[in-house]
Amino acid sequence: MSDHPLAVGIAGLRFKNPVIPASGTFGYGLEFLPFLDLSRLGGFCTKGLSPQPLQGNPPPRIVETPAGMLNAIGLQNIGVRAFVAEKLPLLRAYDTHVIANVFGFSIEDFLEVVAALNDAEGVAAYELNISCPNVKEGGTQFGNDPALAARVTEAVKRAATRPVIVKLSPNAPSITDVARAVESAGADAVSLVNTFVGLAIDVYTHRPRLAYTTGGLSGPAIRPLAVRMVYEVSQVISIPRIGIGGITTWMDALEFILAGATAVQLGTINYTDPCAALRVIEGLEAYCRERHTTVAALVGAFKPQA
Ligand SMILES: Cc1cc2nc3c(=O)[nH]c(=O)nc-3n(C[C@H](O)[C@H](O)[C@H](O)COP(=O)(O)O)c2cc1C
Repeated sequence: MSDHPLAVGIAGLRFKNPVIPASGTFGYGLEFLPFLDLSRLGGFCTKGLSPQPLQGNPPPRIVETPAGMLNAIGLQNIGVRAFVAEKLPLLRAYDTHVIANVFGFSIEDFLEVVAALNDAEGVAAYELNISCPNVKEGGTQFGNDPALAARVTEAVKRAATRPVIVKLSPNAPSITDVARAVESAGADAVSLVNTFVGLAIDVYTHRPRLAYTTGGLSGPAIRPLAVRMVYEVSQVISIPRIGIGGITTWMDALEFILAGATAVQLGTINYTDPCAALRVIEGLEAYCRERHTTVAALVGAFKPQA
């Protein structure tokens, strides 16, 4: 994997660079064609896919916060079959890894989405969004419970024809326990973090500012929390980590890499700067060339105080 200073390997896949737009902030990739050449990206994550199309929550679904945003989109998507029929054929023209983000409200839902993707050409890996309630069994979020997270991981791994990345929730009582559990269950890699649950209140109406009441906080506000979690998780598992949370510049991305991430995902920044991924790639490349190093050599190179 040392053919190019930015190239990294995750779950047997070679990524030309470690920069990957994050699920839910990059549509199905095609929406960004006016702004950037998808072939420049290491890969990108699709919007979360479910067995059936979902309309999501009623508006308002987004609230701005001082350094990020609170969203309660409610996992709106076109459904996995429409993705395979309408989006994937167009994506095959680009030399990048399409990572299908998969979610469900039961283990059967996850398996149905994966079954629909398994035979489709042009998907590199699956990313499981386990920050969803297990509606069929008590409503606990898969990602908040190590045993439940392990069960869905194991079931998907058994069915999947592609590498499985499990996306960890920062709302779990112990994210390191969940990371250990999904590694033992066969996950090929983890990505972290998803959004933090937050609440915004309208002081004039005394009502929630989001129709759904609570929402997921993302953006620069969460970055130090996310870097700390990547560092802690990196201490307890050996499968690769993909760092996510508030990245806006190449230096932010490098913090995650130094903390132990092999690659990074960019989310909220895509809304304000749709070309952000290119800036981050160019910045990382300049840094590596200047210092005669590679991204792979920088993974986990953080030196904590003795
Ligand atoms: C509007 C919005 C929609 C999102 N939808 C999804 C989703 O469908 N699946 C998922 O796994 N994560 C989803 N996320 C979480 C992001 O992929 C990412 O983990 C999170 O926003 C933190 O990264 P950031 O601070 O760079 O935005 C969404 C985030 C936002 C802001």
